[in-house]
Amino acid sequence: MCGIVGYIGSRQAFPILMKGLYRLEYRGYDSAGIALLNGDLKLYKTKGKVADLEKFVFGKDITGTVGIAHTRWATHGEPNNVNAHPHFSQSRNLAIIHNGIIENYLALKKELISRGYKFESDTDTEVLIHLIDDIRNNEGVTLDEAVRIALNEVVGAYAIAIISKNDPDMLVAARKGSPLVVGIGIDEFFLASDAAPIVEHTKEVIYLNDEEIVCIRRGEQIKIKTIKNKNKTPYSQKLEMNLSEIEKGGFDHFMLKEIYEQPRSILDSMRGRLNARQGKVKLGGIIDYEQKMANAQRIIIVACGTSWHAGLVGEYLFEDLARIPVEVEYASEFRYRNPIITEDDIVIAISQSGETADTLAAIELAKSKGATIIGICNVVGSSIARATHAGSYTHAGPEIGVASTKAFTAQVTILTLMALRLAQMRGTIKKTRFYQILNELESIPDKVSETLKIDTKIKELASLFIGTRNFLYLGRGYNFPVAMEGALKLKEISYIHAEGYPAAEMKHGPIALIDQEMPVVVIATNKGTYDKVISNIQEVKARRGIIIAIVTKGDVAVKDLADYIIEVPETEELLVPLLATIPLQLLSYHIAVGRNCNVDQPRNLAKSVTVE
Ligand code: F6R
Repeated sequence: MCGIVGYIGSRQAFPILMKGLYRLEYRGYDSAGIALLNGDLKLYKTKGKVADLEKFVFGKDITGTVGIAHTRWATHGEPNNVNAHPHFSQSRNLAIIHNGIIENYLALKKELISRGYKFESDTDTEVLIHLIDDIRNNEGVTLDEAVRIALNEVVGAYAIAIISKNDPDMLVAARKGSPLVVGIGIDEFFLASDAAPIVEHTKEVIYLNDEEIVCIRRGEQIKIKTIKNKNKTPYSQKLEMNLSEIEKGGFDHFMLKEIYEQPRSILDSMRGRLNARQGKVKLGGIIDYEQKMANAQRIIIVACGTSWHAGLVGEYLFEDLARIPVEVEYASEFRYRNPIITEDDIVIAISQSGETADTLAAIELAKSKGATIIGICNVVGSSIARATHAGSYTHAGPEIGVASTKAFTAQVTILTLMALRLAQMRGTIKKTRFYQILNELESIPDKVSETLKIDTKIKELASLFIGTRNFLYLGRGYNFPVAMEGALKLKEISYIHAEGYPAAEMKHGPIALIDQEMPVVVIATNKGTYDKVISNIQEVKARRGIIIAIVTKGDVAVKDLADYIIEVPETEELLVPLLATIPLQLLSYHIAVGRNCNVDQPRNLAKSVTVE
């Protein structure tokens, strides 16, 4: 939610900041703005995308070697030119950009209004800059000290960056709950919500921790202190990311590129962790906790959205293989329903971004009750990864398309490995069966490649449903979460209403929706419940619904009944989600493209949901 970028150095800041904004646009894209220092403090902002900002500044003075820039996902105040960031202080000497939410902004605003401050925008951010300005003026302290004092009065989440006309060689930034990375170049520094804008300039970065303030002065070492005024030694790390990972690489959209990356991303998530020949599953990140996991009486999985769907697959896997009872919770609900958590519980938090506020809050709650928290995150060094006791990174590489694709299959892969390892430790799986599944898991990347070959066929199929208004997705067992994920993918990028249901639930309500206009996507690969799924298909056909069936290659019975068939290679039932998801991603993608939707940046969404 909101991308922030900053630069201070000897080069012109504008092109660096603009490119950075483009790289962060997936985080929010309803308005954008930039502030530059060059004697004067210039501020340009506009409703719309980064490209609109670029047009807006055309012909204006964009010189300056210090600057900050922002791409917004609106929380307080509608997306318009005034609410766009940066925001000036009343004196117009300071400019701020902010990602997060200041929860006590109303109380602070009231106080500032009573002291004569005038507000131009509806944002919570403007409160913060007036507060900092007020402290600076009244207490005669430096900018970084004023920021520190102000942040002690703030309740909420923030990643902020501030520049000052009176301190033109300085950039101050701070974080709590929203991510912030500092890039260290030669005589120059970069600041960003994640490493994507930094990677082409330097590989040396510092990830700020919560409640840390960084003071970056031109030509000096950076200084970090906490909001409690404790000096911290800056600890720099080498970025693992490559530029090619964050570029489209010839694909029309990041989403399509990421769908196509799945043979590799699944392989990367298994790399060094699975050896089928030796019958070994080793997840280094959880090794110190795996005995505790194996002894657990219960596992609770917390996550949101697509990661929650991966969690549902996890539930089937852990119960099926390791015979451990599992509860899968929406992280947002978990926190607010006084859940019963004990020190014996294992809580697995799943998150692509590692920044999702609801998931973080669920972790903090479970931690406070003494549970052991295991993370499954994609973004290395992210807040969730740091908040957990241990965990396994998915290693899917940066996911930039707002709709999650390769992160889902990587999460399911990690959950499969975890369930297999726990099953092995608990003795709940026969050796031959264990080897069988490991062998099959090793072949999944190739089978995903094979599945991707149906893309052209799916594109043709998608063209028939461009004008459709509703979709139903049905699946049973392992394919029930796949149906939910298929429906989510379609609605978020094409704005077609879609619901995912366990196939048998259809007759308890959704069947009322079925007529000759309703496409029903049925994932009919299950061996165990194949006949029952056929009955569900019959029920749809009897009401003249249109069946699009995902079947195992060579299927006969469903083929005869369905209007359209999509085949996936044969695999173990518990691994089907890794294959059946692929055609559903492609179907959503092609329908959305056919409807001229912005696939990578769907309306109202943002990639990393750092607000509750
Ligand atoms: C859907 C999607 C979202 C995320 C959800 C959780 O395509 O991307 O539903 O899955 O916001 O995000 P993470 O996994 O970053 O915690």
